[in-house]
Amino acid sequence: MSDTTPIKTSDLEKSDVVNKTTGQKWVYSPIVKEHFFHPKNILLEEPAEGQFDARGTVGSPACGDVMDIWIKVDPTTERVVDLKWKTFGCGSAIAATSMFSVMVTENGGLTIEDAMKIKPQDIMERLGGLPNRKIHCSVLADKAFRKAVNNYFHAVGKHDRVEVEGARVVDKNLNITDKDIEEAVLEGAQTLDEVQKKLKVGVGDPEAIPEIEQLIRFYSEKYYG
Ligand code: FES
Repeated sequence: MSDTTPIKTSDLEKSDVVNKTTGQKWVYSPIVKEHFFHPKNILLEEPAEGQFDARGTVGSPACGDVMDIWIKVDPTTERVVDLKWKTFGCGSAIAATSMFSVMVTENGGLTIEDAMKIKPQDIMERLGGLPNRKIHCSVLADKAFRKAVNNYFHAVGKHDRVEVEGARVVDKNLNITDKDIEEAVLEGAQTLDEVQKKLKVGVGDPEAIPEIEQLIRFYSEKYYG
């Protein structure tokens, strides 16, 4: 097949992705494929004025892709009654966000509080798993959702409900923060060696190592279970 030959959906549905360099196969579950080929709650047109209460947009430092989420909230119950999304992300981002949107809005919608409790592993379980290298794609939905929720609370004047996640410097020599370590783990580094290959964190600041290792354990547990 030449590069310009259009790929038929039926072909894609049959195949998983094989890395041309390593030959490693990324196996996608039937549920992942279903949500990739038939994404739920995807927004195909610009939203109408007043259709949603808030929007959250995030970019992935790991790959540069972007995720946009819009939410509609019942002001009395704080249930998320509608959630739509759009992304420039890959198939894993599409499948994971599609599943996340179903989990948040099914059965009349979760309350904001309960929706914020959805963990990456919960989405993985419902999807039947994702390759580890694609976990960073699957957390874009959660991050964009949290931004949308913060924007919602700002919009309705509940500024005290806004949750700010600040970055904290863990290696003062290189100005590397806990968020940099989170991104390294999301890109697949799960040991000190692997993180140091990406960031050199702690190399010139050995006193920072215990905290760095603790953060690696924390984020590995959070994203890989
Ligand atoms: S979202 Fe960018 S590679 Fe998956």
